[in-house]
Amino acid sequence: MPNLKSVLVTGANAGLGKESARQLALLESTERVYLGCRNMEKAEAAKAELEEATGRRVFEILQLDVMDMDSVRAAVRAIPDSLDGLVMNAGGLGGPTPNATTREGSTHVFAVNVLGHALLVDELIAVGKLEKVAVFSGSEACRGVEKFRMKRPPFETSSTDELASVIDGSWLEGAYTAMTAYAASKYVAALWIGSMARRHPSIRFVTMSPGGTSGTAGTDGMQGVLRVLMKYLLRPLMVAFGLMHDVETGALRYVNALTDERYESGVFYGSAADATIGNVVDQATILTDLANEEFQDNAYEAIHRFLRPRSITPRSSPSP
Ligand SMILES: NC(=O)c1ccc[n+]([C@@H]2O[C@H](COP(=O)([O-])OP(=O)(O)OC[C@H]3O[C@@H](n4cnc5c(N)ncnc54)[C@H](OP(=O)(O)O)[C@@H]3O)[C@@H](O)[C@H]2O)c1
Repeated sequence: MPNLKSVLVTGANAGLGKESARQLALLESTERVYLGCRNMEKAEAAKAELEEATGRRVFEILQLDVMDMDSVRAAVRAIPDSLDGLVMNAGGLGGPTPNATTREGSTHVFAVNVLGHALLVDELIAVGKLEKVAVFSGSEACRGVEKFRMKRPPFETSSTDELASVIDGSWLEGAYTAMTAYAASKYVAALWIGSMARRHPSIRFVTMSPGGTSGTAGTDGMQGVLRVLMKYLLRPLMVAFGLMHDVETGALRYVNALTDERYESGVFYGSAADATIGNVVDQATILTDLANEEFQDNAYEAIHRFLRPRSITPRSSPSP
């Protein structure tokens, strides 16, 4: 088991992120857990709660909004030493405007789940601040979930252009639901992690789905009544029917992926094809695309189209 002294968790003020920060703090080797959060008030409250729950003073708040690339760059500069581990957990359905675009031209849903994390990893590696392992929060939605009657997002070729169309929102000519866009974003992400694993063999890159997890918000893109129904009726029912597990079990999947080297670099682990919880399996055994190195490199390329500095169109000179 590798000794991880310092780990950054993104989206650490709630749900799976906060719970994984708690579990990490209880490991003997842990000296620092960075709570990567966008909202300082929520971050302070989470820090106090985590200190109380663990009796440890290892938590440090790192201001980080993964939808804002300047914030990502500033966060990397603010980390004093190198990190042993990173959990790319922040994410969800993209808030109230999932299809609106950021300055980089990415949809909100893609930016919050993937683009900010891609920049974060690139910047950390560029300055030698990521040493051992990076875990991305995947979702079985990207290969379809039979039990929820959720279809696999339809990709024709997984070419760079097709994957880039997920990022800018033109995919399927915009005719998709927020959940399909989320699933497609997690598909691109799992492929990108495969590519990163081959590009950076000294760092273990793992995609791990927390599995169907209750007790988290995870409903940010849902409208009023559906949101309340989901939280107070559907999720408890799903737990009762064995379709969801608790947040401790979901977060433990991340912690296992971080600390157990038997989870192989480049692989996406998640629930078995006919389950939403339970033991994890290599998702490429369910959807072979995920192990396709050409698709993986296409995802890397597609993402980096949005991270390269854009050429600035010269303004026309003012008329005399
Ligand atoms: N729950 C599940 O069943 C499930 C299943 C598969 C995968 N996942 C994945 O697991 C991850 C965590 O999900 P969850 O259920 O724990 O969700 P959650 O309870 O909604 O927590 C999401 C966390 O991400 C943070 N966040 C959102 N946008 C952010 C941004 N722009 N910058 C920084 N932090 C941001 C939130 O902070 P704020 O409080 O500031 O919004 C919050 O701390 C997500 O990536 C999700 O896709 C969840």
